[in-house]
Amino acid sequence: MNTVIINGSPRKDGNTARMCHAFADGVVSHRPVATVEIVNLYDFDFKGCRSCFACKLKDAATYGKCAVKDAISPILERALKADILVLASPIYLMDVSGEYKSFLERLLFPVASYEAEYKSLATNKMQVATIYTMNVPKEMCPNQVLASTEYFIGHIFRTPRRICAYNTYQFKDYSKYKVEVFDEEQKKQYHDKIFPIELKEAFSLGLEMAAEASK
Ligand SMILES: Cc1cc2nc3c(=O)[nH]c(=O)nc-3n(C[C@H](O)[C@H](O)[C@H](O)COP(=O)(O)O)c2cc1C
Repeated sequence: MNTVIINGSPRKDGNTARMCHAFADGVVSHRPVATVEIVNLYDFDFKGCRSCFACKLKDAATYGKCAVKDAISPILERALKADILVLASPIYLMDVSGEYKSFLERLLFPVASYEAEYKSLATNKMQVATIYTMNVPKEMCPNQVLASTEYFIGHIFRTPRRICAYNTYQFKDYSKYKVEVFDEEQKKQYHDKIFPIELKEAFSLGLEMAAEASK
């Protein structure tokens, strides 16, 4: 069983990374021999889709594939073959991070054909989980933006299952930063009480998806 986890945050030990690791622990707790790869997108020198349309060219070897070869190409190949794919991003400007979006363009657009009904060319319809972490509380989550990307992911692979961490800690020591809009004590209380629960949800989803993939 092969799990590929994409961390679309620049922070390797941040909230998104911690949710990714919790998910990975859940997979391994079900299946100790499972292969789990966590990819930190910001380690890779790559760009989003260049709109070359080689992936849409009739009778071409590149049809349905990303023709651009760069550092992210091997990751795209492994992601397309995974049994479980996890797509994780912090919320930036009420949307996903730029690097994460660039990765999705390269992953999804080549297999999103212009054939009848926009037929998905993905041969592997793996289970997908999405993970988002954000500063805002649950009621301010940019659900509509996330839902449209997930609709696309669902059309290409399978409808993703989503988990989130809300009201996240952004700095280790709030006293060093100029912050007037949130209550530091309230943040700390939420972080200490709720973040462990959100990590547990990530763990449980990893375990559940591994169990499903084992069937
Ligand atoms: C450039 C930037 C933009 C951000 N924009 C938002 C935002 O629009 N909404 C929000 O809730 N949090 C926003 N945040 C906060 C992060 O989403 C949040 O702290 C997240 O948990 C960080 O994840 P990380 O620890 O994995 O880096 C932003 C942070 C940065 C650095």
